[in-house]
Amino acid sequence: MTVRRVLKMGEPLLGQVAAPVMRFDAELEALVRDMDDTMRSLNGAGIAAPQIGVSLRVVIFEVADNPRYPHVSPVPYTVLVNPQLTPLGEEQAEGWEGCLSVPGLRGLVPRHTRLRYRGFDLHGAPIDRTVEGFHARVVQHEVDHLDGILYPQRVRDMRNFGFEDALGTRMTPMPD
Ligand code: NI
Repeated sequence: MTVRRVLKMGEPLLGQVAAPVMRFDAELEALVRDMDDTMRSLNGAGIAAPQIGVSLRVVIFEVADNPRYPHVSPVPYTVLVNPQLTPLGEEQAEGWEGCLSVPGLRGLVPRHTRLRYRGFDLHGAPIDRTVEGFHARVVQHEVDHLDGILYPQRVRDMRNFGFEDALGTRMTPMPD
């Protein structure tokens, strides 16, 4: 069990475009294990490799059924390597997001409502899914990390960005 330090907004590596994974090997397995341990120790819904200081195109996410978020459907545990996103349709929706690299803050972020994503699992087997709602939001948030984008850059109205405890009831709580 290795919980790694999570980089915070402002650290240059979070702003870099991450490199594709070339080999599905033991090194990748070790990286995903560390991402997993780190995400779970912080109760995160997802984490991207750059957040633990590794500039590779790997994300993981999972949203379990949680009574704290009754309006959020569960998302299966997924390891997604070298992802490609294709938005389906023009529709976007705004939702509150948080991020392990931006602790304590929340912002209202527009995302595509429906989306197809493709990539590979930990062993190199292809993944091809069409998703919507919170599942689509989590994937877009995590894949943004691989392109050096943090959600505050996508907040349209900075009045809808602030500290979780200060936003209070204006904000619908969402998993990080
Ligand atoms: Ni994040």
